[in-house]
Amino acid sequence: MSTEIGSVIDFFERHPISREIILTKLKASKGHLDRVSPEELFPHDQDHYGGLDANDALAARAAIGKGTRVADFCAGLGGPARYLAYRYGADVTGVELTPARVKGAEELTRLVGLQNTFASLKAMLWRYRCLIAASMW
Ligand SMILES: C[S@@+](CC[C@H](N)C(=O)[O-])C[C@H]1O[C@@H](n2cnc3c(N)ncnc32)[C@H](O)[C@@H]1O
Repeated sequence: MSTEIGSVIDFFERHPISREIILTKLKASKGHLDRVSPEELFPHDQDHYGGLDANDALAARAAIGKGTRVADFCAGLGGPARYLAYRYGADVTGVELTPARVKGAEELTRLVGLQNTFASLKAMLWRYRCLIAASMW
């Protein structure tokens, strides 16, 4: 692994937006972690400026709708990917470098019951080569 890739992984493994922090905030606002819906997670799981409005703006520009195949590069903890799957019915494959974030994304996706609509998260860069998608996120 190159030094640059190692540094990126190191940075995001220590990043303040993590599965643990998201669940702590969610528990503080909801009181418990039973029967969590995607909408309850969305205020906490978007790791970009503009939040859900930015997702909607990009989804409109890319004409994302039911069944659109989306490759979400740098998917993080899967917030935008879950949003596109839930709100638009897109078939999303997240591509993410940092193993802790891949694991976190998979756990959060299971927590809200989207594991059957959200295609998969894969950690490896080689996955780029075999992705076939109608949209790039
Ligand atoms: C700022 S976060 C954005 C996460 C997500 N897109 C969101 O908006 O919630 C950037 C993510 O890109 C990932 N990343 C950085 N370089 C990458 C690469 N070369 N391939 C895949 N993921 C990468 C990081 O591990 C990090 O999780």
